[in-house]
Amino acid sequence: MQETDGQIYEKDKKSYMPVFARYPIVLDHGDGVYVYDTHDKKYIDYLGGIAVNVLGHNYPALVDAIAEQARKMIHCSNLYYTEAQADAAEKLANLSGLDEAKVFFGNSGAEANEGAIKLARKYSTAKDKDKIQIIVANMSFHGRTFATLAATGQPHYHEGFGPLPAGFDYVDYGDIDALEKMMSDKTCAVMLETIQGEGGVHVPPEDYLQKVRALCDKYDASLILDEIQCGMGRTGTLFAYEQYGIKPNITTLAKGLAGGVPIGAFIADGKCAAAFHAGDHGSTFGGNPLACAAANVVLDTVSRPEFLENVKAVGGYLKSKLESLKEKYPALIKEVRGKGLILGAEIARPGRDIVNECLKEGAIINCTVNTVLRFVPPLITTNEHVDEIMAVLEKALIKFA
Ligand SMILES: Cc1ncc(COP(=O)(O)O)c(C=O)c1O
Repeated sequence: MQETDGQIYEKDKKSYMPVFARYPIVLDHGDGVYVYDTHDKKYIDYLGGIAVNVLGHNYPALVDAIAEQARKMIHCSNLYYTEAQADAAEKLANLSGLDEAKVFFGNSGAEANEGAIKLARKYSTAKDKDKIQIIVANMSFHGRTFATLAATGQPHYHEGFGPLPAGFDYVDYGDIDALEKMMSDKTCAVMLETIQGEGGVHVPPEDYLQKVRALCDKYDASLILDEIQCGMGRTGTLFAYEQYGIKPNITTLAKGLAGGVPIGAFIADGKCAAAFHAGDHGSTFGGNPLACAAANVVLDTVSRPEFLENVKAVGGYLKSKLESLKEKYPALIKEVRGKGLILGAEIARPGRDIVNECLKEGAIINCTVNTVLRFVPPLITTNEHVDEIMAVLEKALIKFA
């Protein structure tokens, strides 16, 4: 017999680590941009598994590729070659635009960043054992492992976990003068999100990333761009950095890369990648044929120009609708930020009540840093979905205006 929601909550409370502040619904299945709970209540999903379900739910070509690969082989270890992994690596290396790019697959965003940090350190300390400084941004988010926690410039995430790995320094995102003052020939890397996600959806100021690139060149420091949240087509180009006319030395992906199957990747230019030799890094599951078969479908689909055009168009429409809401409720909505389909609305009160209100009305949105309503929907969304979500959001906002 199917368990009741109450029984599931109880089981979770008793047996699952209490690290998530979950919302009180039990999700059962999804289709396109919609998910359904155990009572078959329909929700429009404008969170997309936190920027993961780029092709929405139950996307036929993705489901078929996963099923077909599962029937052939799910896993075989990295001691052997698989066609799915070689294909996914080749696609990513080519699409990244990095010179002589090489790819490594892990299983999550934190793991991708952890690998990127290791590679940057290996590259720089081969030249100078003291060239270890990694400069990261305040309000960044790079993951929950020890090194990626150290790289995360939000001190509350560090509390209770010290000591963290040494060598990380923090600077305000967008402040090029502060970065310049901090850099020297001991700087190993500058690590930034191309667009900050968890920290409240912050887009880099004009010319900032170009200037960061120039400073990294000056000091032979690696520029690591974390595109785990803003990459995979979310801004309307496959990699967000394409829109800033620069290339990182290392970039990281995860979340949307396999449309929901766990995967992470770091991609490095040939110069950096040459620092790694057999035995320097590894992963049991990373890049297994199941995850790579999924990634191949997602990459083929998302990299199509017409797919990316839709992201730009619908993202522009959503942004214009959020701007209109801001004009209508200026005391409530302070600022609208973002690019493509990674958008945030900074509000003048805690956002959780608004998120809860939307949930009751059948819409899933999210709030980050307490006061930024964040929209990272499946990239297959349309203007009609935007109208649907905006109607629910306005109804919720009115209650707090
Ligand atoms: C920019 C960025 N980097 C890294 C991570 C960590 O990814 P994961 O949770 O898969 O370890 C996240 C997750 O939100 C992220 O947004």
